[in-house]
Parts: sequence; structure tokens; C-alpha cells
Amino acid sequence: MVSDGKRYPAELIARIELLQTDITTLDVDGIVNAANTSLLGGGGVDGAIHRAAGPELLAECRTLGGCPTGQAKITKGYKLAATYVIHTVGPIYHGKAQDAELLASCYVNSLALAGEYELESIAFPAISTGVYGYPLEEATPIALGTTLEELPKYESIRRVVFALFSEKALKVYTDSLLLC
Ligand code: AR6
Repeated sequence: MVSDGKRYPAELIARIELLQTDITTLDVDGIVNAANTSLLGGGGVDGAIHRAAGPELLAECRTLGGCPTGQAKITKGYKLAATYVIHTVGPIYHGKAQDAELLASCYVNSLALAGEYELESIAFPAISTGVYGYPLEEATPIALGTTLEELPKYESIRRVVFALFSEKALKVYTDSLLLC
């Protein structure tokens, strides 16, 4: 660890963008959905993505056979500006060590799919921090740290947006990124 506490090179940090926005409005190659294991829709960001993408998204999701917690599956984006939706399933927060592993897996597996499909830009919501109860202050360093560890593997991914719904979430992410 260097003395100023920074661990990641500036070129890597420069590929990360923090925005306070509705993820469904973003014109990126792929947006990540914080789904549930059924992949058949729900509330929160999942509901917003399905509403914005239209019924064809649900039709494609029905063919996927669900998704285990921590894994990810990809569909087209239909009426969204985004070409693809990467559906991942965050853990329901229980305050156990496994929560962090599963949450990190969501970022690892979503970025792997983005790399496989050679996406140049991808946007993440703050997975598990809504209905699934993961404290934002605990989830944020996992989201940022895992992304910064994985990103060097994928040259194609030039831009990773964290689409944050509230001013508070933007502040927590901004403070956390300063420590990276
Ligand atoms: N754009 C960006 N972020 C959003 C948006 C949006 N349009 N809407 C909500 N958020 P949640 P989870 C934020 O509950 O905790 C669903 O029913 C929200 O403020 O959407 O992973 C699924 O089907 C929060 O910070 O997802 C599952 O059953 C973050 O997105 C369950 O909820 C995640 O909140 C998944 O729960």
C-alpha cells in the first residue's frame, strides 16, 4: 500500500464513472439488472428495466430457466437504449461472510459476460442495496473493489458507469472511490 492510500492506477480509475441517474435512461452497450433467481421481473430497478424494455424482455427471460444467486445471464435490451441487459442476482443480506462473496460474484460474472460480448460500456446499479437489504456502506467497496480487480482482464470495457439512484448513494460511492 502506498502512503496516500491509493491502490489502483489512475488509468484504471478513469474507466469508472459515478452518476446519479435512472439506469434505464443510459445509452451504454449493456446495463446490469439486479434481478431475482426467477429472472421474471420484480420491483425496484428490475421493475424499471422491464417496464422500459417492454414485454419482449420478459419473453426472452422466460427462456433462460432462472439464475442462481451470484451468477449472471445476458439478454437483448429491446426498447432500451442499451443493446444488452445483463441480469445478475445479488444476495439477500444476512450479515454473513458469504454475502460479500456472492455480491462480489455478481460483479465478476457480469463483467465476464460484458467482456465475452466485447461491450465497451456497461452500467451497474447498486446491487442488493434495495429490497435485498445490503447496507450501502458495506456493498459499495465490494462493488468498486471487485470491478477494479476484474477490469484489467477486459480491454474492450472502456467505461463502467455506476448508476446511483440517490444523492446519498452517489456520495457513498464518491467517498469510497477516493480510497481506491
Ligand atoms: N436506476 C438505478 N438504480 C435504481 C433504480 C433505477 N431505475 N431503481 C432502484 N434503484 P433493488 P436489490 C436502486 O431493490 O436490492 C427486485 O424486486 C435502489 O435505490 O432494485 O438487488 C428484484 O426482482 C437500490 O440502491 O434491488 C429482486 O426481487 C438499488 O437500485 C429484488 O428487488 C438496488 O435496489 C432485488 O433487490
